[in-house]
Amino acid sequence: MPASPVISIIVAITRDNAIGLGGDQLYYISSDLRRFRSITMGHPMVMGRRTFESFPRGPLPGRRNIVITSRPGYPSDGIELAPSLPDALALAATSPTGTEDIKSDSSEIVVIGGASVYRQALPLASRLYLTVIEVDRPDADTFFPPIDPSKWTIAEQSDPMIDPPTGLTYRYLTLTRR
Ligand SMILES: NC(=O)c1ccc[n+]([C@@H]2O[C@H](COP(=O)([O-])OP(=O)(O)OC[C@H]3O[C@@H](n4cnc5c(N)ncnc54)[C@H](OP(=O)(O)O)[C@@H]3O)[C@@H](O)[C@H]2O)c1
Repeated sequence: MPASPVISIIVAITRDNAIGLGGDQLYYISSDLRRFRSITMGHPMVMGRRTFESFPRGPLPGRRNIVITSRPGYPSDGIELAPSLPDALALAATSPTGTEDIKSDSSEIVVIGGASVYRQALPLASRLYLTVIEVDRPDADTFFPPIDPSKWTIAEQSDPMIDPPTGLTYRYLTLTRR
């Protein structure tokens, strides 16, 4: 029997756990977008309907886009629909249908947001790919749930980096569940 998939979460957060405002992300840092692409490429991605609708060019190419929605008849071009997170994870663990050109390595399923899906997925996740942006954004309207440090260990940590266009300082952290 194949091993159970690893459930990972990827998120860009500020020091105060902010992740979004007005339906959009707070920041777009080019090297972080490249890291996101490299981590998710080839793996099924699970997301909430609002996060999917924030993509300017529709489904992200080269990966299965599994979208959670309660809306019957939601347009499904280029995406797969699931009515709940457990259904999305079960779907992600199976071979894709209708998207055969997409390589799908289900050994790792990556949950890509937003807040409502992160809240549901955090207890199930065993790996967190964080981009921590060294600012506070109390004005944000969407936040990642608190990360209990007693439950996670730092597996990898980058040095702080600066995003030249914005001057923002950020770093990458990979946490694994203890
Ligand atoms: N910083 C980051 O890394 C990052 C990453 C991703 C997203 N974000 C931000 O997060 C915000 C979006 O987060 P959000 O919490 O508002 O929305 P979301 O989690 O992306 O999507 C919420 C929607 O997903 C569906 N859904 C979620 N759980 C469900 C369940 N158990 N059963 C059925 N449907 C379910 C529902 O869709 P229906 O209403 O269709 O039923 C719900 O309205 C945006 O600002 C986005 O930019 C930030």
